[in-house]
Amino acid sequence: MRTVVRVENLWKEIDGRWILKGVSFEVMEEEIFSIIGASGSGKTSITKHIVGLWKPTKGKVYVFGREVSGLPPLELDDLRRNIGYVFQEGALFDSLKVWENVGFYFLEHTNAKSDEVREIAREKLRLVNLNEDVLDLMPSELSGGMKKRVSIARAIATDPKLIIYDEPTSGLDPITSRVIDRLILELREKTKTTAIVVTHDMMSAFSISDRIMVLREGEVVDVGTPEEILRSKDPFVNEFVSEIREILVGQDKAP
Ligand SMILES: Nc1ncnc2c1ncn2[C@@H]1O[C@H](COP(=O)(O)OP(=O)(O)OP(=O)(O)O)[C@@H](O)[C@H]1O
Ligand SMILES: [Mg+2]
Repeated sequence: MRTVVRVENLWKEIDGRWILKGVSFEVMEEEIFSIIGASGSGKTSITKHIVGLWKPTKGKVYVFGREVSGLPPLELDDLRRNIGYVFQEGALFDSLKVWENVGFYFLEHTNAKSDEVREIAREKLRLVNLNEDVLDLMPSELSGGMKKRVSIARAIATDPKLIIYDEPTSGLDPITSRVIDRLILELREKTKTTAIVVTHDMMSAFSISDRIMVLREGEVVDVGTPEEILRSKDPFVNEFVSEIREILVGQDKAP
């Protein structure tokens, strides 16, 4: 199996503070790889290096075999076209209709006609289980769960090979969160993409991930399958997952 992302000894300093301290991990093709850890532990910061928004203070980040910080602008654009990023805040453009949000890349970077872009938007919305009734709605007319789905549709608009979801279930009720979980799994099946999921939602992490990485104050404390993480000998990880372990055991779903 091929490596899609390789992070090698990544250190990041901002304003004299070390945000990331020697983070290393690999994400394999078609894997769903979750990053969990307390607020401020550096989860989003890692993803910013993967898409080349931030440069490492030390260390290297390779995506599809290319070292991100060394890429000239055109190659960085090309890389970004192959990465879908679902932002933590959703970040839909409030003044644009749903189809314009989903097709934003094509409206902005290509000469594609409106009809063609609407068609792309329709197809991607179908992949996230929304029908064409939403094409002409404004983001303010959508529920939280629908907004997330539209954000995901926008992230997959350019048929990326890697999707990064930053807190895809935050702000959603438990039922809608499980719908988004299923969608992430479904999209992997349908589009054969690799996914990195940053999440606070332990139920989500433990039910959809092939592997989970636990982060603490900018350092990796453990990486493993959900089963391995639930049985981790590390005292911090053990404590961190104690609640979800009890829930999963109570439901007889412990892996
Ligand atoms: N642009 C920035 N400038 C300065 N410090 C930053 C910046 N972005 C993040 N940080 C700091 O880096 C640390 C890690 O932030 P990051 O956003 O990666 O955390 P996180 O794990 O994603 O947290 P959350 O779960 O709350 O989203 C935090 O201490 C944060 O204050
Ligand atoms: Mg974050």
